[in-house]
Amino acid sequence: MSNERLEGIEACVFDAYGTLFDFNSAAHAASDELGSDWQRLSELWRQKQLQYTWLRGLAGRHADFWQVTAEALAYALNTLGLDRPGLHARLLDLYLHLRCYADVPATLQQLRACGMKLAILSNGTPSMLAAVVRNSTLDGVFDAVLSVEEVGVFKPHPAVYRLAPQRLQLEPAAICFLSANAWDAHCAKASGLRVIWCNRFAQAAERIPETPDGEIGDLTELPALVCPQP
Ligand code: LAC
Repeated sequence: MSNERLEGIEACVFDAYGTLFDFNSAAHAASDELGSDWQRLSELWRQKQLQYTWLRGLAGRHADFWQVTAEALAYALNTLGLDRPGLHARLLDLYLHLRCYADVPATLQQLRACGMKLAILSNGTPSMLAAVVRNSTLDGVFDAVLSVEEVGVFKPHPAVYRLAPQRLQLEPAAICFLSANAWDAHCAKASGLRVIWCNRFAQAAERIPETPDGEIGDLTELPALVCPQP
């Protein structure tokens, strides 16, 4: 994938979990109890959480992301034989205190300095997103924090991606959507947004419809691709 500068971008819209916020940091923070199992737990928790969103979308049985996250965690703890008293509640609370990735604060500042509007577009509920933003001291950085709860269906339903241009009052092509979740990046592209896949986990390319406009390894590469040239 070639990384050409994207002209005419007025807003950068970010996926939350895995892109801005490190979902592994919840289980890691409980490694005093989990020992080396924290990684297996974190991986299975995330896999199940996403599967449950897709299944609920296909089955037309929406429940919010807090419920889905709690149910996926219960499944993962159960599967790994880790369901000890208090652990489920502790890990869920830690999900509201996820760390943001190290490249996030400075990159967001740089984007703001070049006049970019900033937003989040996530499966998370408004209160989950408000908590992670506040707890990682990114308060006041975003012009909008958009949750799928506004449309009552999870990503990758097209109605989710349409929220960004609707709420920011911009043409889709004036928005650059960023996600570390490749499937999210591909599906956003189908809604006319410009898209950069932030391939934090050095994953292979997906074989699904649409292709992101670019691929970066972390967010530090983003301002050079979207900020107007001085
Ligand atoms: C989100 C998930 C997909 O934040 O990471 O929407």
